[in-house]
Amino acid sequence: MSKTLKSLRALADPTRLRIIALLERDELSVNELQEITRMGQSRISTHLGLLQESGLLQSRREGKRTFYRLDSREGRGVREFIEMAIRGAKEIPDYPNDQVNLKRILARRQEQAQLYFNQVAGRFDRSYGPGRSWQAFGQLLLRILPPLIVADLGSGEGLLSELLARRCKKVIAVDNSEKMVAYGAKKAKKNGLKNLEFRLGDLQNPPIDPQSVDLVILSQALHHAEDPARAIASAHRIVTPGGQVLILDLLKHKFEQAHKLYGDRWLGFTESDLHRWLEAAGIRKIEIAIVAREEQAPHFETVLAGGIK
Ligand SMILES: C[S@@+](CC[C@H](N)C(=O)[O-])C[C@H]1O[C@@H](n2cnc3c(N)ncnc32)[C@H](O)[C@@H]1O
Repeated sequence: MSKTLKSLRALADPTRLRIIALLERDELSVNELQEITRMGQSRISTHLGLLQESGLLQSRREGKRTFYRLDSREGRGVREFIEMAIRGAKEIPDYPNDQVNLKRILARRQEQAQLYFNQVAGRFDRSYGPGRSWQAFGQLLLRILPPLIVADLGSGEGLLSELLARRCKKVIAVDNSEKMVAYGAKKAKKNGLKNLEFRLGDLQNPPIDPQSVDLVILSQALHHAEDPARAIASAHRIVTPGGQVLILDLLKHKFEQAHKLYGDRWLGFTESDLHRWLEAAGIRKIEIAIVAREEQAPHFETVLAGGIK
């Protein structure tokens, strides 16, 4: 049978006209169509099958449910049949009731989505959300970063440097461990990051020209420096006027084993230590905040401190 004949045959039944008129507004599942039309499942399914066969409908599966919608793809030549069907449906006595029921079902769908968020509001940010992660947020935030020249002091293998290099103009990663620098440089090369340069050096006197970078980052590096105040003064020296110095470090803690376990020189810093050193170096608009607390003992807390030159 030709496509036109199939479509005409599909329209030659009031129930199928009702179904088409209902799907005009939104896609619907068999259950929803059942609820709206008060018809049995097998009857609805038969009509849906016929309509789909005639090319007027499309379907998609979502878990155990199948949703049906009108085939609105361009060039399919079904629009005129659909319009005809809707005109016909309006002449059927069930039409007004169908429309009222449809409105109710669609409103309930919306309410169900809202119900979940109304229930979790207040604890949503602390609970699991599918697809939501700090990693993903980090990638998003990176996209809004301007093309800066960055110095990552005490960079390690360059976890942060590599991330930054994907958006920044240039990243200079400084570390005093030969192996870290060699490994980081090799990895950057392998990843094609030509704007990431590793330099061997001391973060207390980094091998970077004065006033040559827009941003200095010390991430979990300052507590390794013999003289943290000197390291911050050096950060100030290499940053351009108007540039930023940002420090991520551990808040002062009592976990003595950190010396041996992680090679830490200092057991973190107080907010006032960091404030004093930043101020003494000439950093303005200083902001300091505790930004993370680990769930597991010894509950390390991370402090973010920094300001503008
Ligand atoms: C805990 S890691 C932090 C790595 C990286 N910044 C991060 O956040 O993942 C500390 C790094 O600082 C380096 N480091 C320690 N003392 C340093 C110093 N005086 N000058 C330069 N790098 C230093 C170590 O070699 C190590 O790679």
